[in-house]
Amino acid sequence: MKKAIAGVGLALMGTAILFALVSFWRENWGANQTPGAVERFLAGWLLSGSRGQSAEMPNPVAPTAANLTEGHDLYLKQCAFCHGEDGTGGGRSGVQFYPPVPSLIPPQNQLTDSQMHYVIEQGVRYTAMPSFDNALNEEQIWKVVLWVRRLPAPTTEGTPPPSDGGNP
Ligand code: HEC
Repeated sequence: MKKAIAGVGLALMGTAILFALVSFWRENWGANQTPGAVERFLAGWLLSGSRGQSAEMPNPVAPTAANLTEGHDLYLKQCAFCHGEDGTGGGRSGVQFYPPVPSLIPPQNQLTDSQMHYVIEQGVRYTAMPSFDNALNEEQIWKVVLWVRRLPAPTTEGTPPPSDGGNP
């Protein structure tokens, strides 16, 4: 009798696993699809650690016109493709990912300067956000952060907004 119950239990478990596998297979894996609630919850939970727990520190690079221009150039070259020239995120005309490309502008974005630096340096695994650890040096990353803090700014070439001597 015990054996029979165990057999039924095993069969039920097998069916459940098979069902899970088949639905996993048949999932639409397109990056322009919004996944189901369970995946969204798990992904959000897993990725919440990516913001960085680095010590708070203000941007050490001064917002001079030269630094802003360099930050602007780097941003256009490395980030605008995904985050949009004005930093409002992809979507309208840009490439699509899931998780989607977030806006870099408050109120959607509440990252501090150091958290932003951390994300740019480390990237976010399992998302489209690359690590710029090899592509940009420390100072360049801070310059990009300077520029991101000025967004959404007029992006007219060569005329970055005037420096105000500190973070907004
Ligand atoms: C190939 C596309 C792509 C490129 C290029 C890219 N990003 Fe991202 N970025 C993403 C995606 C997708 C996310 C969302 C990751 C997630 O869900 O945690 C992201 C997240 C971020 C975040 C975290 C936002 C938040 O609120 O948590 C910051 C900051 C950021 N990117 C800045 C940049 C900067 C600055 C650059 C250029 C140096 C850049 N990214 C280049 C796709 C990209």
